[in-house]
Amino acid sequence: MAEGADEAGAAPAREGSGGAFFGRRKAKKLRPGQADLFATLLPRLTLPAEPPPDLRALFAAPVREVRLEIGFGGGEHLLAAARAEPDVGFIGCEPFVNGMAKMLAAIGREGIANIRLWPDDAAPLLDRLPAAGLARVDLFYPDPWPKRRQRKRRFVSAETLSAIARALAAGGTFRFASDIDDYVGWTLARLEREPRLAWTATRAADWTSPHEGWVRTRYEAKALAAGRVPSYILTVRTAG
Ligand SMILES: C[S@@+](CC[C@H](N)C(=O)[O-])C[C@H]1O[C@@H](n2cnc3c(N)ncnc32)[C@H](O)[C@@H]1O
Repeated sequence: MAEGADEAGAAPAREGSGGAFFGRRKAKKLRPGQADLFATLLPRLTLPAEPPPDLRALFAAPVREVRLEIGFGGGEHLLAAARAEPDVGFIGCEPFVNGMAKMLAAIGREGIANIRLWPDDAAPLLDRLPAAGLARVDLFYPDPWPKRRQRKRRFVSAETLSAIARALAAGGTFRFASDIDDYVGWTLARLEREPRLAWTATRAADWTSPHEGWVRTRYEAKALAAGRVPSYILTVRTAG
């Protein structure tokens, strides 16, 4: 994740320069059981290079819609959502190997059938998804890249918001959360220039209250313990 990622030698990048992953791929060495899951389960769950025009076809059991979570980290939110709504298909995207290892272990242990995975950068994935194929895109606590010279590495850019708007069906939602005020402002400024994603807030409680069905991740718990105040931004894909 971002703290330490700079020291790990992530390459500097300009906003909109293509790929959007600059964090660490790996922290701890995988245990043998985890490595086995990477070799056996992950290939079965990884999205095909050419996703189908109707993303619901990715799931063996019928699902009524498909949602994407970008950078699920430890997977707490994605797993809870998939368990709560077995009739929804979820695509979970996470390039950090140890986060993916946790996800694979939970899917294997619980036999969860409504999650497909993308173990890499979400930016090229978004470009490959069919237009209007998703009902929701979640981006919670993206790596903050707080230093001025690092900000261009942030996942949110005009290009990624445009790709999210393209991938969402009209009426679908893009949900964002961050504990870094500067990143919230950065995102709102770019949302203002993306007319297809309309911020729904009408009063402060709309961005200070967690999103519907919210599950606190370890990352958020740490942010709260450190005294930081999260903001929750909900936008709706317009029909235009
Ligand atoms: C600060 S963590 C937050 C994790 C989780 N969303 C949460 O709220 O607990 C940010 C996560 O985004 C992932 N990430 C960073 N860049 C990404 C990219 N381009 N595509 C997908 N995931 C990315 C990181 O690997 C990391 O796990």
